[in-house]
Amino acid sequence: MINLKDYGIEMWDTEKIASFRRTLLNWYDNEKRDLPWRRTKNPYHIWVSEIMLQQTQVVTVIPYYERFLEWFPTVEDLANAPEEKLLKAWEGLGYYSRVRNMQKAAQEIMEKFDGIFPNNHKDILSLKGIGPYTAGAISSIAFGLAEPAVDGNVMRVMARLFEINYDIGDPKNRKIFQAIMEILIDPERPGDFNQALMDLGTDIESAKNPRPDESPIRFFSAAYLHGTYDKYPIKLPKKKPKPVQIQAFVIRNSDGDFLLEKNLDGRLLGGFWSFPIIQTDFIAQQLDLFEKKDGNLQIISQKDLFEKDYQLTPTWTNQHFAQVKHTFSHQKWTIELTEGLVKNDKFTSEKELRWVPENQLSQYPMATPQKKMLKEYLGK
Ligand code: ADE
Repeated sequence: MINLKDYGIEMWDTEKIASFRRTLLNWYDNEKRDLPWRRTKNPYHIWVSEIMLQQTQVVTVIPYYERFLEWFPTVEDLANAPEEKLLKAWEGLGYYSRVRNMQKAAQEIMEKFDGIFPNNHKDILSLKGIGPYTAGAISSIAFGLAEPAVDGNVMRVMARLFEINYDIGDPKNRKIFQAIMEILIDPERPGDFNQALMDLGTDIESAKNPRPDESPIRFFSAAYLHGTYDKYPIKLPKKKPKPVQIQAFVIRNSDGDFLLEKNLDGRLLGGFWSFPIIQTDFIAQQLDLFEKKDGNLQIISQKDLFEKDYQLTPTWTNQHFAQVKHTFSHQKWTIELTEGLVKNDKFTSEKELRWVPENQLSQYPMATPQKKMLKEYLGK
């Protein structure tokens, strides 16, 4: 455990801590949002909500949460879910490793814990995909354990309370906020205490449009009292997502069916179906765009490369489409669409390919870039 004084932080006395807890929880009792996962103590349900709520807003999460629990009512159902259904349940939420890890954790619960969700912090933290934040949230909300759940919201509120001069975006500083929360958290109502800070951090004490004069804890806040509210939290700029150029091929056969490919590459968007795509600014791909002919290098077009890779020979229509853009946390895709029609639609390549009629597209898990491409192509 760290010493807060080493970080220039003066902790309050016990009376002030008790008063802070009362003030925050009184506000929560009056103002808390009525959310579906607040009507349960089922650790499985709370786990699902907490994983979805990472990187995704409450309003977006609610319908996903309800459908997920309808499709997979128990840990066992999740452990045994087929991949396609799992990805379908998460389709559009992004960061798909979250749901893959959840399934692995569900399998761990079945094997190591006899199918019963573990009820202590150490075992919860040992599960795949459950880090300190999620373990703290589940421990406190479902089991009433005095464990902090430190996320960006909590760090922002703490940074203002104590004028913390450490970057909240740097993972090595998390321990400072964790140490403060271990002292402040109300051992009588840890789940409510954590969730009160989440509610405060997403609204009144938000990052972009805070309303400091409305904060129930403003008179505890050093930054508020010292007029330094605008300076906190300290958050240094993150690396920008890297621009990536993509060529997508919208290929249809004589029945009008679309060519879809399952992404077998386990990294970005593995398991999802999309139009065939190639990254055209990727150096290895650019080398593919050269072909040795009679010992000489010769440039081949992206369309030739498609024909070679997919062993299909479309007639290219030269239809024009607007570029499709999509930003991931670390990559910014600009996608060009090109359309081709094939007469001979037999597959001979090793890839996982399928001809899919338009009215069956929704049966395939598709990530957001593919949904945007379809929308651009179909004009709807
Ligand atoms: N964000 C993350 N967890 C949350 C919760 N339990 N309630 C509201 N917002 C949250």
